[in-house]
Amino acid sequence: MKTSFLFRCINEACGREFELSQKIYQCPACADLLDIIQVGKVLDPIRTKKTLRKRRLSMDSLNVSGVWRYREFLPFTKKEWKHVVTLGEGNNPVLEAPRSARYIGLKQLKVKHLGWNPSGSFKDYGMTVAVTQARKLGCRAVACASTGNTSASMAAYCARTDMKAVVFIPEGQIAYGKLAQALDYGAKTLQIKGNFDAAMELVRDLSGKHDLYLMNSVNPFRLEGQKTVMLELFDQLDWRIPDRIVVPGGNLGNSSSYGKVLYELKQMGFIEKVPRITVIQASGADPLYRTLVTSSRELVPVQDAWTLASAIKIGRPISWKKAVRALQFTDGWCDVVNEQEIADAKAVLGLDGIGCEPASATTVAGLKKLFHISRTTLPEVTIDPDEDVVAVLTGHQLKDPEYTVNYHLNNLYEHAVYENVVVEKARKLQSTYANAPIPVEADPEAILRLLEL
Ligand code: F0G
Repeated sequence: MKTSFLFRCINEACGREFELSQKIYQCPACADLLDIIQVGKVLDPIRTKKTLRKRRLSMDSLNVSGVWRYREFLPFTKKEWKHVVTLGEGNNPVLEAPRSARYIGLKQLKVKHLGWNPSGSFKDYGMTVAVTQARKLGCRAVACASTGNTSASMAAYCARTDMKAVVFIPEGQIAYGKLAQALDYGAKTLQIKGNFDAAMELVRDLSGKHDLYLMNSVNPFRLEGQKTVMLELFDQLDWRIPDRIVVPGGNLGNSSSYGKVLYELKQMGFIEKVPRITVIQASGADPLYRTLVTSSRELVPVQDAWTLASAIKIGRPISWKKAVRALQFTDGWCDVVNEQEIADAKAVLGLDGIGCEPASATTVAGLKKLFHISRTTLPEVTIDPDEDVVAVLTGHQLKDPEYTVNYHLNNLYEHAVYENVVVEKARKLQSTYANAPIPVEADPEAILRLLEL
């Protein structure tokens, strides 16, 4: 039987299927989200795992990419590989983080650092696939709303093609490193007066009616690419499957894609054990958490989502239903952490030599919180000190240096309005692990005195 791919509506009561050649992002019949499914695919786990490992020795650009190396799991036929747009993404390490483990209370902690990608965030795993599909479809212009990383990634991949990149960003609300990238990569960068959720609604509306292909994670091709984070992780771990994967939650594409690939791997016999997915949100931008704790069947949105971790400042996440499905399938959970917890966790990761942007540090902050409250609560949140845990760090430290410097200068505020000089400050955070630069005379004696050498 030949392999083919289809869109399928995630709403079981609908379940309609559509051709992948259509430019659709949600079910034309019931407006629910779409999955991509493979029909007729039979992969032998032992043989496939060996092939994947062998490809690491190859210099072929498809094998060098940490996404396309896993192409059996992606919705393209062999003939379509000629469309691939790659920047050699993936190949991100799994690192031990002993200080962070101690900070949490765990015996050990592994981090998978997706911030070491070409554009500095996990988005590249999905973007190489979505831009490839856009090219295959012959799109002239693609668009996304973004808190910064999606736009940086989309702009980079589009710069490798003839497609025009149009990004919608909430004005004044994305970190400078990310804005700099979109500008440098030549994207048309539209600063929208309003927050991410407003920008998302706008671009969704426009792309539905005009010749703008939508590249947010509502586009199932993005999630297909992000599945390879788990494939790469398991390959790196020699298929010794961890107990738990912890991931920040924003628009909820990442957690959704992990849930999907874990389901597929289990179905195909690649894994026996399914790691629990734990999603961590910032307490000021916690719609998934609110939805779960109220057992609501509809999303409980957050009107004016707020967090200094601007990447995840999202009140109406598009993929929330898929994230709920991922948590149900993996017996996982979602929790929240406050700004202080995020800031300190980020500094502790830094002391392990592992920088990241604030949103990524929610993972370590969340683990610490769950570890300490979990003694008496539900099994899905109870963390054992011996657990094999992987925290997924999603963005590079240099995306948002202002946050880090302010933390170390003991000058980080939950709310601060800057206009060249600070005009308003409130609710200062503690810089518990501050490491401020030290002013000193250019004099050897003074320096030696200071260093106590
Ligand atoms: N971490 C970082 C660094 C992010 O940029 C994002 C999302 C997330 C975590 C959350 O991932 O949305 O899949 O749940 N950034 C998007 C953007 C929204 O526009 O760059 P998610």
